[in-house]
Amino acid sequence: MAGLFGSLFGSKASRRGAGFAAVDRYCDVAGFSETEPVFYGHDASDCTLIEIEGVRTIMSGEEFENALQIHFVGGVSQLLKRAGHSLTISYESSANIEDDLERFVGAQRRNSDLKQLGLEAVTDEGEAIIRRAARRERILMAVWTSPKAALVEEVKRERAENAERWRTMPPARNATPSQLALAALSGPHAAAVRKVVDALEASALRVRVLGPDEDGRRRDLTEIRKAVLYHETPDGWSPFGPTERTYPGAKATVDDDTSELFSPPVAQQILSSGAIASANLRNIAMGGRNYAVVAVSVFPKILQHFNQLIASIVNHRAAGMPFRIAFHFEDIEGASGFGLRKVLAGLASWTSPTTKNLFQALRTLQEIHERDMDTVCKARIIATTWVEPGEPPEILEQRRSYLVRALMSWGDALVMEAPHNPMRALAETVPGMTMRAVVPPATLAPLSQAAAMLPFHRTAPIFSRGESVFLSTDGKLMPHEAFSADQNFWLSLIYATPGSGKSVLLNRLNYDFTAYSGGRRLPFISIIDVGVSSSGYIEVVKNALPEGRQHEATYVRLENAKHHAINPLELGLGRRYPLPRESAFVENFLATLFGLRGHGADLSEQLITRVIRRLYQSKSDLEFTNAANSWQPGIEPELDRQAEELRLPLRDRTKWWQLVDGFMLAGKPMLAMRAQRYAMPRLEDVSAILSESMIREDFPPLLVQMAQRSIESAVEKYPIFSNVSRLDLGEARIMSIDLQDVVQRYKSEEADRNNSLFFMAARQAFLAKIGGYAEEIRSMELPKGDLRGVYEAYWQAHYDDIAETPKRLAMDEYHLTGGTEGIARLVRSDAREGRKWGLEIILVSQLLEDFKGMKDMASTVMILNADSQQLREEARSVFGFTDAVKKDLERHVHGPRKGRGASFLVRYMLREEERWAVMTNLMGPRLLWALTTKKEDRLVRDELYRRVSVNEALRILAQRYPDASAIEHWERVQASTTDTDTRIPKIIVDQIMGELLAGSGERPSGRPTTLLAAQ
Ligand SMILES: Nc1ncnc2c1ncn2[C@@H]1O[C@H](COP(=O)(O)OP(=O)(O)OP(=O)(O)O)[C@@H](O)[C@H]1O
Ligand SMILES: [Mg+2]
Repeated sequence: MAGLFGSLFGSKASRRGAGFAAVDRYCDVAGFSETEPVFYGHDASDCTLIEIEGVRTIMSGEEFENALQIHFVGGVSQLLKRAGHSLTISYESSANIEDDLERFVGAQRRNSDLKQLGLEAVTDEGEAIIRRAARRERILMAVWTSPKAALVEEVKRERAENAERWRTMPPARNATPSQLALAALSGPHAAAVRKVVDALEASALRVRVLGPDEDGRRRDLTEIRKAVLYHETPDGWSPFGPTERTYPGAKATVDDDTSELFSPPVAQQILSSGAIASANLRNIAMGGRNYAVVAVSVFPKILQHFNQLIASIVNHRAAGMPFRIAFHFEDIEGASGFGLRKVLAGLASWTSPTTKNLFQALRTLQEIHERDMDTVCKARIIATTWVEPGEPPEILEQRRSYLVRALMSWGDALVMEAPHNPMRALAETVPGMTMRAVVPPATLAPLSQAAAMLPFHRTAPIFSRGESVFLSTDGKLMPHEAFSADQNFWLSLIYATPGSGKSVLLNRLNYDFTAYSGGRRLPFISIIDVGVSSSGYIEVVKNALPEGRQHEATYVRLENAKHHAINPLELGLGRRYPLPRESAFVENFLATLFGLRGHGADLSEQLITRVIRRLYQSKSDLEFTNAANSWQPGIEPELDRQAEELRLPLRDRTKWWQLVDGFMLAGKPMLAMRAQRYAMPRLEDVSAILSESMIREDFPPLLVQMAQRSIESAVEKYPIFSNVSRLDLGEARIMSIDLQDVVQRYKSEEADRNNSLFFMAARQAFLAKIGGYAEEIRSMELPKGDLRGVYEAYWQAHYDDIAETPKRLAMDEYHLTGGTEGIARLVRSDAREGRKWGLEIILVSQLLEDFKGMKDMASTVMILNADSQQLREEARSVFGFTDAVKKDLERHVHGPRKGRGASFLVRYMLREEERWAVMTNLMGPRLLWALTTKKEDRLVRDELYRRVSVNEALRILAQRYPDASAIEHWERVQASTTDTDTRIPKIIVDQIMGELLAGSGERPSGRPTTLLAAQ
């Protein structure tokens, strides 16, 4: 590309002043406020850059259009009616997501390193997957206020004062002027920005005013610079302020100019690289990119929505094309000085038929202009596309023609190549770079009509950070943040029909949360599962933990047997009476057990409350008369031995509580905990309480009898609930409790009750470890005196230890509980209480019915599938959404698709509003392998984990089976062997390892082995 102009600026000469004027032609930024989100043009205009992230929730085209007309057009037209304001709005789409992605992936790497989890292979893959699929989208708006917007007299006076101050300074031709701002403008400008922001926000858009961040870095000027010098602008870039230069430059000339003492002009700092125009002036090379710029010369006959332009670009082969389009709006009375009225007056002297039509059209415009909620303004459109460094330069021509075609078919516009001054044209595609546009011809257009073309109807991300990164339907990064401070509570519901990716999504959320949430320690996570869906998650964490810490992740397949006993009546250490949250659990457990529903439910509730009170009374050694459990020798010989060693009394009448207190006083809380298990009431004790005369007198005999019978049959049927607690989760922080062997899969009231009880008990096993918070200590029923102090100290230390650690309880296959009232109530109470101590609850169900009545409590809802009209309607009645949301559900959400991940509809309840969006859970083969829910694949993977590290195993599997399943291989081996299933994984892994050893030897499946980011 021969340079006709040569370097347009940025050369040595320009630094010394000759090129100064040249830079000024392309960048109007002359200075910036050090504290406010404002920068200044050469004529002391004020400018503020606003980032528009998109719409906050799902809206139909019509709904959005209405909001825009009422709020945006209404608000902004008042601004553009007056002289002195202009707006530039740009939309940019490119594949340059490194900077955005780095924020998330960088945090992921740091956090998994902090936890010493060896999971680079998965993190790297996640990054590569997103990089391939995601797009960077930026919507920016520059609001300019020129001195015309202020009182003439004031401006004049201030200018004189500034000039005077300048004169007292040593000459510095090439430095950022430090006396630029006009105080008279700051009021009108601030009001204009406020008005625009309000108008945008009222139109359901999420916006951010860009300015100095906490470190004083200029996000606004960085965006401006990145628009043309993306690859040369590090993320933390910020220009020097007028007096920020630490080391003066060396002077190259002998004169009295002191520029070298100051920072160079901001414009020079922004456009610091040279640009080279091609000989025919069609292209311009700058900062590694090669740009082509085109302008709309005649506006479309019918103004169309922006998303139609995007659709026509995406539908073409040009889907991946980077481009930016900018819309400039200024008041018609403004810069050029001739207004609508003058044009009309001029035309009035003509009377030909053609001008008559024109005259009529202008008349109409004038009428619009005089309306309250609209205005006619000068509008211009200019756009650019480019070739990134490393791409073949020839494709620029192709991209230019795609862009031209797309613009021309967008409502029939006329498009021209930006003529004569390509650098100026490029600069005009960047909001904030130039005060006004001159390259594209202006069109008089009512704002109400031009607004339809604006690039606003895009999806705004919900959170600005998060452990998981999903994608929007436009390919934008959509982080998901667990425990966001923007949410008041954390109850998440995941719904879909079978096989739609619920468990995989849950595993992914748990995996990301485990590996990537902040801090050194693992969070507390318990999954209650039926079957092995979560085993992949547990295995990957366990195997990624360093030597000696494997016990932090555990998997228990619960059996209805004494050795897994979970006593539902057990309380926290030292407590003689349940805390409110413990009562709630016992109440709901007993209510479910009794199964007393319908008529007389109130009465049975009263019965339960009474039974509970009596039960703990009778077992408390602090009561005057009690039936507290007595110690017996030999029940747990280890405890006897330890007690003897500590000289605790071991007599016939010794109560277990005495041993508990004794161990506590001796500083042995672990032993105290073991002893307390024997001090606790058990189900059979409930039966005794029910036979007490006081109860019999106060409640109908039939009710008591039924309760009695349920308890007796439960004691017989459930050794797991009727014995002293045995299930030991040890020091596990990540646990999965698999209810496969204890739940019943057929549908009946009895099965629902059985299953609810097991879900509740599994929940209890986890919450007993991590529930509660320090404020509870005051209301704990503990022994008095010194002992109380000992217990309080224990609980304080315990809560200090876990308070900061986030906790999550997930119940997969929740539909198996039948959503019984007992469990639903428990979940609601946990969600309410858990908020105080950092507990999130996730429920996963195949049935919408389970979530009825939970809508308002749920902070997050995810729907992975609702494939029939009836289900969508049902979903709507449960979660209450608009037609637009329903349409998106129908259009985008269909469960997992090969290579395209699983899309889901999500609703986040934020503090101030409800936000709906569609996101995609896109996972690479490594993560899919790690989290797979298929039995055969799981066996193969776990066999490989036994032989090599997690990183290694997942790399090998993903490379060998990029579709994330070895099922075909399995079937082949199965057909050719007489071995049992247990041997097949071993045979397969032997073969894989053999292939690896033999280099790239023959691969039985003959499948290509494209390795993502092969290492
Ligand atoms: N994001 C995804 N990307 C690719 N494949 C996926 C994804 N999510 C799920 N799958 C595939 O779909 C299969 C079924 O997913 P999953 O087990 O999560 O369904 P489910 O909704 O939990 O079903 P069920 O209700 O029967 O438990 C997985 O084994 C996996 O092969
Ligand atoms: Mg599942």
